Amino acid sequence: MSDLTLTPNVFAIWSSLIEERVGLCYGLGDKDLLASKLSARAAETGFDSLLDYYYFLRYDSDSERELELLIDSLVVNETYFFRELAPLEVLVSRFIVPLIEAGKTPRVWCAACSTGEEPLTLAMLLAEQGLLRKVELVASDISGAALDRARAGAHRRRSLRSVPPPALAAKWLEVSEDAVWIHPSLRRAVEWRRLNILDKQAVSALGTFDIILCRNVLIYFRDVTAVRVVNDLAAQLCPGGLLSIGISESLARFGTALSCEEVGGVFLYRKAEK
Ligand SMILES: C[S@@+](CC[C@H](N)C(=O)[O-])C[C@H]1O[C@@H](n2cnc3c(N)ncnc32)[C@H](O)[C@@H]1O
Repeated sequence: MSDLTLTPNVFAIWSSLIEERVGLCYGLGDKDLLASKLSARAAETGFDSLLDYYYFLRYDSDSERELELLIDSLVVNETYFFRELAPLEVLVSRFIVPLIEAGKTPRVWCAACSTGEEPLTLAMLLAEQGLLRKVELVASDISGAALDRARAGAHRRRSLRSVPPPALAAKWLEVSEDAVWIHPSLRRAVEWRRLNILDKQAVSALGTFDIILCRNVLIYFRDVTAVRVVNDLAAQLCPGGLLSIGISESLARFGTALSCEEVGGVFLYRKAEK
């Protein structure tokens, strides 16, 4: 099937709708890519014009489910086990363990967890130390399809691309010809939620956390959206709580309420104690 026409005007209204609902920011250079993704969903839904499909999603009260499917097709679910492992190790050894030793049950939230490899890597690190049950682990993403994979515990072979995988891979992962299976005890230890991090109310309803990971998603947002999200996440951190973002991301140019600190060679953002 060839792509439907996306004129500059229709591209403009589509990109602003997507940015408003998901945060993803499309520049004119992404017009063909967006046209192709929208065309596939429009065809599936029975529309032969991207303008009609737009009006349906923007104004029809029955379009909620279609919006979810479109979002599934737009988001980049790139993730893998043991990705950016050092910050996770530092969070466990320098922050989570001391909180547990102080008699607390740390609450940790992976706010854009995709198919789950990030919270599951954290779960492996905790399980290795017998601490999995002593931590409350919440993982969320806007993509229902990604979360379905996470809940099922079946991961793509690509999700084990970190070479060589740490020794704990052998213990907690089972690799078959076409999938990587996570030990069910780890998958069950995580509370999986569908959540849009742009939705301030939903974010606030999750309660407060000692640690929030929001890694490799802010890069898809315009600065103004990223600042808003970071401020909303910061509001959910306990005093002294930490935000971890991706290693190629930085909040330095934003001026948020969080202060950057280096711990064990890793940059983290801390909320003031008071
Ligand atoms: C590249 S993945 C990063 C996954 C993981 N954090 C990591 O670092 O490997 C980005 C994820 O952000 C999610 N995402 C994009 N916009 C979102 C939003 N507004 N709310 C929640 N998740 C979102 C996507 O669905 C995708 O799964």
